[in-house]
Amino acid sequence: MDSKTNQAIGVFDSGIGGLTVVRALMERLPFENIIYFGDTARVPYGVKSVETINRYAMQITEFLLKKDVKLLIVACNTMAAVAYRAIRDLSPVPVLEVIEASAKLAVSETRSKAIGVIGTPATINSNAYARAIHQLDRDAKVFSQACPLFVPLVEEGWLDHEATKLVAEEYLKPVMAEQIDTLVLGCTHYPLLKPLFQDIVGANVRLIDSAEAMAEIAADLIHRENLGNTSRQSPDYLFYVSDVPYRFQTIGERFLGRTLTRVEMVRL
Ligand code: DGL
Repeated sequence: MDSKTNQAIGVFDSGIGGLTVVRALMERLPFENIIYFGDTARVPYGVKSVETINRYAMQITEFLLKKDVKLLIVACNTMAAVAYRAIRDLSPVPVLEVIEASAKLAVSETRSKAIGVIGTPATINSNAYARAIHQLDRDAKVFSQACPLFVPLVEEGWLDHEATKLVAEEYLKPVMAEQIDTLVLGCTHYPLLKPLFQDIVGANVRLIDSAEAMAEIAADLIHRENLGNTSRQSPDYLFYVSDVPYRFQTIGERFLGRTLTRVEMVRL
């Protein structure tokens, strides 16, 4: 047996949000060991500069590579948008990121070729989604909107709150005016707002969940490269954070949909 197969998948994020990707991975790849790093001391990344995001991303990559992971998954859309190339250049193991995964799914789902993308300011300003979508379909039209208020609203647990609804209506107005039929949820936190978004955009607009898209792409790669864990024992899940774990643990359970054990604080 190739010893690589039981090595963990390294998933990293700016904080808690990447747990939506872990959740999708746990469902799609139930025998894979996972090591997660959430940079809770320095979150949010979405409003930081490209230079800072790159520097942080390099530190996290080095940390996870030392844990001997077999695959790296950049769960954070902001890091994927800004730092993917640098991460890939540093990594001897394959690196997957959420943006390409979501772009592929969006292009395969849209009929009208009018695609909306929402994300943090850093993600939207990087133009990474528009580039990824245009690479797959030059005729697609991409309408983007930065939504900085969603991250704190989701972390506050206001998933079905009047205030969140008002904010969402305001942010989505310009993209909806473009007659989009597909909306990419380009941030780790947005899958938790899916029911609220669907209410606002209506049943005819398909929501692209970047966490689910990521899990599909990861499953494909693992299958193709024969990297799947052959052990059928229950896998190990280890979570590292850069600040005291309390907040990560309490809020994180909402993102993960299950209890979070084995959370450890580390300094990078
Ligand atoms: N994880 C980030 C993302 O997906 C959201 C939180 C942050 O701004 O750091 O873009």
